Amino acid sequence: MIVYNFLESYDFTGKTVYPFNTHGGSGLAGTPEKIRSVIPDADVKDGLALTGKTVQNDFDSVQSQIDRWLDDNNLQ
Ligand SMILES: Cc1cc2nc3c(=O)[nH]c(=O)nc-3n(C[C@H](O)[C@H](O)[C@H](O)COP(=O)(O)O)c2cc1C
Repeated sequence: MIVYNFLESYDFTGKTVYPFNTHGGSGLAGTPEKIRSVIPDADVKDGLALTGKTVQNDFDSVQSQIDRWLDDNNLQ
């Protein structure tokens, strides 16, 4: 809820939002769609979800997933 409070408190018109999170199995859990509904004037991208297990145990996989996500979004 703290994130939604934050989003509701500011004007995101013309901003681009890149959601990302760790998770234990639920992925993005519909979060990009929920964020879009709260800040409809922003460009909210599809986002990146990494499992906590991967982040803790497999640096190479995390690195390649983040690199691919950055490439897909023209961020590097
Ligand atoms: C969309 C979303 C899905 C999540 N799914 C899970 C989950 O399936 N299992 C779990 O244990 N934690 C889940 N989490 C919790 C995160 O792994 C993490 O512990 C939490 O967001 C706090 O991270 P922070 O300390 O970096 O803010 C989820 C979080 C988000 C935002």
